[in-house]
Amino acid sequence: MFYIDSKFLLLTILPAGIILASVLAYFIIRKLALRAEGNGKEIKPKFKKIAVALLISVVALSCVAIGFAPFADNLKAFKFESAPAVFDAGDRYAVIWATSKDASSAVEIKTASGETITVKDDTVGIGNFFKRIHRVDIDKSLLDTLGNSYRVISRETLKKGSNYYYDFGKELKSKSYSFKPVNDSENLAFFVISDIQGGEKALAKTIARVDENYDFVLMLGDYNDKQASYNDIIKSIIVPASLASRGEIPCVFLLGNHELKGALSKEVQRIFPTPSLSGEQYFTYSYGQLFLTGLFLGDNHNDNFHRYSGESNFEAYRDKQHLWLESVLLAEEYKNYTYNIGASHIPLISATGLLLQNQTCHECKLTHGYKAEDFQKTFSEMGILMLVSAHSHFVTLAENEACAFPNLHTGGVNKMKRSFYQTTLVKLSGGDSYEFITYTSRGDKTVWVEN
Ligand SMILES: [Fe+2]
Repeated sequence: MFYIDSKFLLLTILPAGIILASVLAYFIIRKLALRAEGNGKEIKPKFKKIAVALLISVVALSCVAIGFAPFADNLKAFKFESAPAVFDAGDRYAVIWATSKDASSAVEIKTASGETITVKDDTVGIGNFFKRIHRVDIDKSLLDTLGNSYRVISRETLKKGSNYYYDFGKELKSKSYSFKPVNDSENLAFFVISDIQGGEKALAKTIARVDENYDFVLMLGDYNDKQASYNDIIKSIIVPASLASRGEIPCVFLLGNHELKGALSKEVQRIFPTPSLSGEQYFTYSYGQLFLTGLFLGDNHNDNFHRYSGESNFEAYRDKQHLWLESVLLAEEYKNYTYNIGASHIPLISATGLLLQNQTCHECKLTHGYKAEDFQKTFSEMGILMLVSAHSHFVTLAENEACAFPNLHTGGVNKMKRSFYQTTLVKLSGGDSYEFITYTSRGDKTVWVEN
């Protein structure tokens, strides 16, 4: 999908285009005039009039374009900019989608018995309808119950109403979706999306080539280079989530280090839930026979790194997170599950097999990995089957004798050539067997580990 901001169009591209066309026209007319003069014809005053008229037209048209800019949104058609995706928020689902203009948000559930239940996004008793990204939190049983279906509904918010009433326009209704919760089977599969960063088209091609079933989508961070606009969030998080899940299976969301960058980075944390019941970016969660421990290690630099100008506090966050992971180890709940897996955007073993704390950063020349050793040790003691990671943009199963688990790197966009994307589907079966299937935007499918 191609996105362009209407204000940007009216303020920059359109005036620049008018000026360029005028300069070109000026030189063509001047050349014709000179040629006419060479032929002994007298048309110079006429040429001057044309040039002045052209100049006045350029200034007038540019002023009109700039004057229209504040109302540019009104020129866009009201439509869905993404299909819905269902994010697992632990004790509930968050259904998230986007529209091209501000609109109201509602999810309509048709139950197996024929009842219609509508859940709206509202707070303090009134709908939240001045926004393009919509999130409606609903009770899990409404989607999980066999035979139920849902669709999303948005009504365009018109701003021309008086102070005493709201005015709404067209209502959009999506198609109906049947949701499939993760079942209790010993065979379980999940599909990873991460490290998109400008490779949205390549990711869409990759998703279209997946020919295996999977039960949920694991979103492992770095969806954008930075969160500069709502369009960034829509095209790189919501659209990929809806494509990969088809609105029919849950998405489990984790942040990457790039979700810390850009003016809207806090919006990303507000909009997209993790399964954490305490609202943290780290969590434990279970799906059937799978116990999943998700971590968010922040940026993989120390707090004195120049990029955050003294505003980062990652070390304290990792300290707190490691204390929590120690409590997960002691609670031993993971022992009740067939599969015990860790997930973190930043790996703990590099693609070349080095432990994270042994790498020297090419930007700051310091060693990465504050607390990495502690996380490696605790995960080893928990006996995780594997740590699933992103960040490196490689696909490999990295191992190091200091860790009792392998670290799967699942892929991402090729940063040199963003038309190429690859990612991995993980299949678990038989209690302790796993298989990785890597798909690329070129159409390659590689089944590469079986044990
Ligand atoms: Fe990253």
